[in-house]
Amino acid sequence: MKRKLNRERRQIYPESGEGGLELTAIGDVRITGRLGEGVTCVVCRGEWRDRDVTVKLYKASAVEWHARRHHQELAEFEYRRNMEFYEAPGLARYVARPLAYLSTGPVSALVQERLDGILYHRYYRDRNGEVPDSLVEHVRRIIELAHEAGLYDVDLHARNVMVVSEYGEPIPKLFDFNYIPFHVRPRNPFVALLLKTGWLGRRSRDFRKLREFHDFKRLEKNPVHSDNP
Ligand SMILES: Nc1ncnc2c1ncn2[C@@H]1O[C@H](COP(=O)(O)OP(=O)(O)O)[C@@H](O)[C@H]1O
Ligand SMILES: [Mg+2]
Repeated sequence: MKRKLNRERRQIYPESGEGGLELTAIGDVRITGRLGEGVTCVVCRGEWRDRDVTVKLYKASAVEWHARRHHQELAEFEYRRNMEFYEAPGLARYVARPLAYLSTGPVSALVQERLDGILYHRYYRDRNGEVPDSLVEHVRRIIELAHEAGLYDVDLHARNVMVVSEYGEPIPKLFDFNYIPFHVRPRNPFVALLLKTGWLGRRSRDFRKLREFHDFKRLEKNPVHSDNP
């Protein structure tokens, strides 16, 4: 079922060819290029109030899917969850700063600090897995700090973490916050029951994702990320 929904959410957004229009601005954000694509959005690079930013342009199908599931506008949801992480004690260092969102009218978008880095997946592959232990420790710390702040189900995987150099030290940063945590909207009544009875803990999924963080098999099967750096 999940796979089917993901397939439906994937849409092709061709680059503007002959006779096409370039997207150059949304409100007061100037669009300067394209950075990547995820299941829910196309991500552009932009300038906003003298800042270098990213603009997530949500796909219509993702906006609809989210509204059906959660009854809250996707751009607003991601902005607020991003802010919860950014404001949690100790986490700002590991989180792209949310700046603004647009959810009225035909365009749904999130403006976020642009991270100048390399996705963990690529970073790890380029080094044949020889990454500093401290980097993995930072990833663990992110989960620890999130849990201390009551934030769970971080949607942690190697293509949702950007490695950014901070004074020469590689630091992992999160930027993708549109995932609805499983304890907020359990996938099915069985999971809801397990949560309610305490057989399944809110932290459990993050711990599993941490254990599987270097298992890239599922990620690499997913073609929607293929143009990402
Ligand atoms: N703040 C950011 N800075 C730089 N690149 C970003 C940023 N946010 C997203 N990206 C790029 O866009 C891609 C898709 O973004 P993501 O938030 O993962 O989308 P989705 O929610 O659809 O999975 C990322 O893999 C990354 O390459
Ligand atoms: Mg993502």
